Amino acid sequence: MTSGLLQGRTAIVTGAGSGMGRAIAKLFAEQGGQVIIADLNQEAAEKTAKEIGGSQVFAVKVDVADDLSVAKMVKGSLTVFGDLDILVNCAGIPQVFTPIEELSESQWDKIMNVNTKSIFLTVKHAVPYMKKKNKGSIVNIASIAGVRARPGLNAYCASKGAAIMLTKALALELAPFQIRVNAINPGPAETPMLGQFISGDQQKIESDKKNIFLSSIPLGSLIQPEDIAHAALYLASDLSRKVTGEILNVDGGRGI
Ligand SMILES: NC(=O)c1ccc[n+]([C@@H]2O[C@H](COP(=O)([O-])OP(=O)(O)OC[C@H]3O[C@@H](n4cnc5c(N)ncnc54)[C@H](O)[C@@H]3O)[C@@H](O)[C@H]2O)c1
Repeated sequence: MTSGLLQGRTAIVTGAGSGMGRAIAKLFAEQGGQVIIADLNQEAAEKTAKEIGGSQVFAVKVDVADDLSVAKMVKGSLTVFGDLDILVNCAGIPQVFTPIEELSESQWDKIMNVNTKSIFLTVKHAVPYMKKKNKGSIVNIASIAGVRARPGLNAYCASKGAAIMLTKALALELAPFQIRVNAINPGPAETPMLGQFISGDQQKIESDKKNIFLSSIPLGSLIQPEDIAHAALYLASDLSRKVTGEILNVDGGRGI
């Protein structure tokens, strides 16, 4: 690859072992970027790296909810590629529909830690380097569930709502350093995660996917990981150089 929107840029993509993160890592590499493929599931991260191939990608294991692990991931990017321009926070976990009185404190904490605290930790470790360069782009994958609630997704909706507000607060705080911070709100998407919001056998999962999720999308079909990758490329690249604090719904109209 000799030219592309991300030529000469280095990106960390968390959650890149599956679904949207994998699609983002692939597109970024196609566009000439060097990509750290980070995931809790090391095997999955390595599989993504192998699929993309070449020396412009590097797989690392990270737990985005753990301060030390995140620090190591950011240091790894600087060691392997000597640079860091783009951070995409895509790692996340779902919540099975649960009445609030049945939700345990540990379930609540886990969802908030992986979906929200992770953004604090990754940004905290990436920003000192970006500030030195006076340039950077941070893209947080939130959810349309962060602005449009569903019953029983209490902790998940709260975690994504917080991710959205954190995106805006960071956009203002980091603007003087030319670091842009934006978020994408995917709607229900065809990835391994979607079935994990539902409990029950495969038949129930498939029928609930149709009745609950698909039926809520005005454009009439589930979002594909590549749809999110295209939006992430726009926000990560100079195409959006005057865009910060923006929350881009890629949801087939679910948020209207
Ligand atoms: N699928 C949907 O319908 C949907 C809709 C809106 C928003 N989202 C959000 O989009 C993002 C990507 O979701 P997806 O659908 O691609 O899911 P996915 O399950 O396919 O991928 C999520 C990845 O995150 C990784 N991960 C989980 N916990 C981690 C941790 N502690 N540290 C590092 N990596 C970890 C997983 O191993 C997995 O590879 C998530 O933040 C999710 O909440 C998904």
